[in-house]
Amino acid sequence: MPKSILISRGLSPEALPLIPKDLTVDLNGHQHPLSRGDLLARLRGKQGLICQITDTIDDEVLATPGLLVVSNVAVGYNNIDVTAARRHGVAVTNTPDVLTETTADFAWALLMAAARRVVEADRYVRSGDWKAWQWDLLWGLDVHGKTIGVLGFGRIGRAIARRARGFGMRVLYHDAVRATPEIEHELEARYVDKPTLLGESDFVTLHVLLSPETRHLIDESSLRSMKKTAVLVNAARGPIVDEAALVRALTEGWIAAAGLDVFEEEPAIHPGFLPLTNVVMAPHIASASFDTRVAMSTLAVKNCLAVLDGQPPLTPV
Ligand code: DGY
Repeated sequence: MPKSILISRGLSPEALPLIPKDLTVDLNGHQHPLSRGDLLARLRGKQGLICQITDTIDDEVLATPGLLVVSNVAVGYNNIDVTAARRHGVAVTNTPDVLTETTADFAWALLMAAARRVVEADRYVRSGDWKAWQWDLLWGLDVHGKTIGVLGFGRIGRAIARRARGFGMRVLYHDAVRATPEIEHELEARYVDKPTLLGESDFVTLHVLLSPETRHLIDESSLRSMKKTAVLVNAARGPIVDEAALVRALTEGWIAAAGLDVFEEEPAIHPGFLPLTNVVMAPHIASASFDTRVAMSTLAVKNCLAVLDGQPPLTPV
């Protein structure tokens, strides 16, 4: 019997020709996610699901009879109940590697923007208030030669560290698993415990997966233990940071600034961030470059097709 795939939304069109003609494709061509009811209804009779982080793939979805694979178009997969998938014999795949460098680039963009007040500067120029060059205008924080602390030293964390070397920075990292001496040597990165990383870093950047263990990894006590001049960057997942605590930290000067691509309840933004000039915010776009979106889509399609073909997926979770 011919197989069918549901594409929940938003895949780059360049990836679609990879799908053989004998497969039936049900594509949500709209920019908004399918409602839960629609997702369940349209998944019925499908063997493959290509989905986005906005789709909640829980036990009920995974129990769809005949479903073989859930292919997430993202490296993070906290939207999928992987334990339930195993129970139902459904393969889960994600899109690592292809977005590593793009995401690291963007985390650096947030870091630089927060440190050097790029967004404030842009707003000031547009406002028409700039009348003359001024000695004491918009002073920021140096980046070069400072200490960066990378929390989560997987692919993206390491790509961050690689860039930090170009800025002549001292690199500290912490992860549940220590990197090999070869990697530490190559990246000139020093393994430290979390309190040391938080206490010694001028820039703290988060690159862990969201899990029950990493939820609110950065809480009030973490923020209070950072330098008053420190900048926090989060391009991983919102709930890794206790946002209410971060709002207080930025308002009361426990730390200097933050660059955020992700939020606890996105797209809702904690109202406390809105009046603050020392936070730079983006709408979860760290991997959103033209090339990377095509690469993510292509990999997601290939993963789905491999499983439907009885082959191991390229990048299983
Ligand atoms: C990811 O890949 O996990 C991003 O957050 C979504 O593009």
